[in-house]
Amino acid sequence: MSHTPATAAKVIPFNKPYLGAEEFQAITEVFESGNIGGNGKIGSNLSALLQQKFSLHRALLTTSCTHALEMAGMALDWGPGDEVILPSFAFVTAATAVVRQGATPIFAEIDEKTWNIDPADVERQITPRTRAIIPVHYAGQGCDMDALMAIAKKHNLDMVEDAAQGIGAKYNGQWLGTIGDIGAYSFHVTKNVICGEGGAFLTNREDIAQRAEIIMEKGTNRSQFLRGAAEKYSWVDIGSSYVVSDLLAAIARAQFAKMDDINRMRGVVWQRYQEGLADLADEGLLVLPYVHPKAEPNWHIYGFRIIEMERRAALFDFMDARGIKATFHFVPLHSSPYGLDNLGYKGDEFPITDRVSQSLIRLPLYPHLDPADQDFIIETIHDFFRGN
Ligand SMILES: Cc1ncc(COP(=O)(O)O)c(C=O)c1O
Repeated sequence: MSHTPATAAKVIPFNKPYLGAEEFQAITEVFESGNIGGNGKIGSNLSALLQQKFSLHRALLTTSCTHALEMAGMALDWGPGDEVILPSFAFVTAATAVVRQGATPIFAEIDEKTWNIDPADVERQITPRTRAIIPVHYAGQGCDMDALMAIAKKHNLDMVEDAAQGIGAKYNGQWLGTIGDIGAYSFHVTKNVICGEGGAFLTNREDIAQRAEIIMEKGTNRSQFLRGAAEKYSWVDIGSSYVVSDLLAAIARAQFAKMDDINRMRGVVWQRYQEGLADLADEGLLVLPYVHPKAEPNWHIYGFRIIEMERRAALFDFMDARGIKATFHFVPLHSSPYGLDNLGYKGDEFPITDRVSQSLIRLPLYPHLDPADQDFIIETIHDFFRGN
């Protein structure tokens, strides 16, 4: 069956927030309480719930994952002369968190199958200046944390997990974001658990937790004061303003209560794509996402690779004409203008990263994606290859 509309009557968005009456009720309650600032009852409660669910020592709510990563750089005192290894196939703020400390991001290649940082290449990038590794758990699938933690231990490196996409997912039985020294979640509107803009800083280390709560409170010991552990508060360290409003924390808490359902429903959609596109993969037209046996993903992204990369733009146009909002993902950092002009990369260092980045197509994925719409998406991709 072929569909022709050049201007589609219906649009299937790439992302659609899964929000309901619970979130609305939650913000209404905060609004009525009058305490819309940070460090309120709701935020503290969500921190406790995160700590309980993920067996974590501390979970501090932040204004974004980006800010949690910046806090990590400050808490660990990265500075000029230090090097921090991260994948080039990453969201830019893992790198800006390094650069803003005056430290140097050193990029590593990804694994061709999982699209996550390749531990063997991490090892190759280590120098006497290396201070830390930032693995990015792409698509909510855990990096090879067993190998990465062994490398960190051997070379005495900090491990900061960019688990922006990874809430509720596990690697080898451990929750993403809780394995290294520090983890960072995002509650951005596009993620699995959302509040619009927000995140969390996670750590199992008391020394880091103590410093982080000062950093996020403008370099003051205000958190201790609020707990009654200090008589007054004053400036004690470096810092900035990373405390989230209870209004947003209320949305995040209502969402977090649904996390298991959200992740399960996303998994159903993910699996349906995987089955619906299997024949095109068998024909050698697509490479479908691979799930590592040790990974228990949260199904954040469904992305596949088109083998004929030069036809990717045409496939995007073809889907767009039918109202399907598919999209690409990370533009490699090593060949970005900043990577070329400021970090000395030539742009040809990471062929797998380039290949994955240039061939990746992400499809609409949200818990309440209508199965009929999903069938239409799968059928449209088939039509493209069949010339319908
Ligand atoms: C891997 C990764 N890291 C960090 C971020 C930044 O998250 P936030 O928007 O909460 O700062 C994102 C968001 O897109 C991401 O995907």
